[in-house]
Amino acid sequence: MAHDATPQPATARRSPPLSGTARVPGDKSISHRSFMFGGLASGETRITGLLEGEDVMRTGQAMKAMGAHIEKHGDEWVIRGTGNGALLQPEGPLDFGNAGTGSRLTMGLVGTYDMETTFIGDASLSSRPMGRVLEPLRQMGVQVVEAAPGDRMPITLRGPKHAAPITYRVPMASAQVKSAVLLAGLNTPGITTVIEPVMTRDHTEKMLKGFGANLTVETDERGVRHIFIEGQGKLTGQVIAVPGDPSSAGFPLVAALIVPGSDITIENVLMNPTRTGLLLTLQEMGGQIDILNPRNAGGEDVADLRVRYSELKGVTVPAERAPSMIDEYPVLAVAAAFAEGETVMQGLEELRVKESDRLAAVANGLKLNGVDCTEGEASLSVRGVPGGKGLGGEPKGEAVKTHLDHRIAMSFLVMGLASEKPVTVDDRAMIATSFPEFMGLMTRLGARID
Ligand code: S3P
Repeated sequence: MAHDATPQPATARRSPPLSGTARVPGDKSISHRSFMFGGLASGETRITGLLEGEDVMRTGQAMKAMGAHIEKHGDEWVIRGTGNGALLQPEGPLDFGNAGTGSRLTMGLVGTYDMETTFIGDASLSSRPMGRVLEPLRQMGVQVVEAAPGDRMPITLRGPKHAAPITYRVPMASAQVKSAVLLAGLNTPGITTVIEPVMTRDHTEKMLKGFGANLTVETDERGVRHIFIEGQGKLTGQVIAVPGDPSSAGFPLVAALIVPGSDITIENVLMNPTRTGLLLTLQEMGGQIDILNPRNAGGEDVADLRVRYSELKGVTVPAERAPSMIDEYPVLAVAAAFAEGETVMQGLEELRVKESDRLAAVANGLKLNGVDCTEGEASLSVRGVPGGKGLGGEPKGEAVKTHLDHRIAMSFLVMGLASEKPVTVDDRAMIATSFPEFMGLMTRLGARID
C-alpha cells in the first residue's frame, strides 16, 4: 500500500480505566526472519503467529520474487524455500515500502549473489542511511552499481562470482547490520566473522542455528561477542510459532500505566532479554507490571504481563540499555510525561536514523502537547506532569507530525488517553506497517481513539 495518499489524522481522548486481556501481533523482527529464512531453506517452513503488517508482507513478496513459494493455509503460513545459495534474480526492483529491517537484511541475504538486485522504498526508507550495510558488503566483493547520494535507495547491487569471507566489527549497535553481514556469510565460502561490541537482539543467530546453520558465538572477557558463520551450508525448513511483539506490547502497556484505574493483561509477549529494556525501565519508574506464566516457546522466553495504573517516578535510563529498548523510547517518553520528576534518556544517537528522526519527532510532539522536555544531541530529558493536567492540544490545535513513522503515531495516541486535552496525530496510516490491529485492540480495552 502506498502512503503518499491523503493523510488520515487520528485523535485520542482522556479515557476511562482500561481493562481486559489482549494479544499483540507477532514480533516484527522474528516475522521478517521467518519469511526470509523459510524462503531460503530447503523443504517446508510452517509459521503461526506471524505479524501480517505491511513491512513483513514486503519481505514475503521479495522472497517470492526470488523463487520462494509462500502461501497462507488457515492460520498458518507455509513456505517452500529455494535452498541456500539458490535464490533467483528478481524480475523487477524489490519494493520494501517503509521497512528498514526487511531491506537491510535482504541486501545482506542477496548482495553476495552473482546477480543484480534493485531495492526501492517509500520516502522515509529512501532517506535512511544504507551505507552501514553497503560498507561490509563492498568488502565482501559486492558492487554497488547504483545508489542515491549518501548510499541511499534506490540501490542496485551486483554480487561477485565468489564473495570473500570477512571479519567485520559492527561500528554501531545495530542488529540489522550484524544480521546483514551474517546473511551475506550464508552465501560465502569459508567463515564470516561478526564482532559485536554491544549486544543487540539475537534473533538472527538463534533462528539461523535452528534452521541448521553452522553458527557459533563466543563472548570474550570484555563481553564482546564474536559470531562465526560457515557459508554454503544446508538450511532446513522449520516450524515456527512467533511470540507477541514486546515493542507493540509497549503501547497498551504504557497506556494502562498512565490511565487511572486501568488493569489489563497482555498475553504471550516475547521476553528475550535483548528486548526487555522497556519493562525494566518502567518497573524502575514504579510501574506495576507482573510477569505471569513465564515459559519457553520454540526457543524463546515468553510471558503474560498484568499491568495496572501506577504513579510513576522519573528515572535516569543508562545508555547501555538503549539496544534492548531502542524502538521503545517514543512510548517511554510518553510514560515519562506523566511521571513525577525528570526522566533522562541517554545514548539515543541511533534514534536519529529510524523511520524518522525519532528524537526530534518525540521532542517536538511532547512540546506541542505542553510537556517540558530538552532534546540533546543523543539524549532526551522529560519533566512529567502526574495526572496530565494541562497536557494535550486544543481540539483545533496542531497535530503531531508523524513523519511516516508508525511508532510516533502510536506513542502520541497513547499520550492522548491520559492527558487533559486530546492529542491528534497527522496520519495513522503507517500504523499498519507493524501493528494493523492497534486501533481495534486499544478501543476494545476502553481507549477513546478515532
Ligand atoms: C531490528 C533492529 C533494530 C530495530 C528494528 C528491528 C531487527 O534496528 O530498531 O526495528 O529486526 O534487526 P537497528 O539495527 O537499526 O538498531
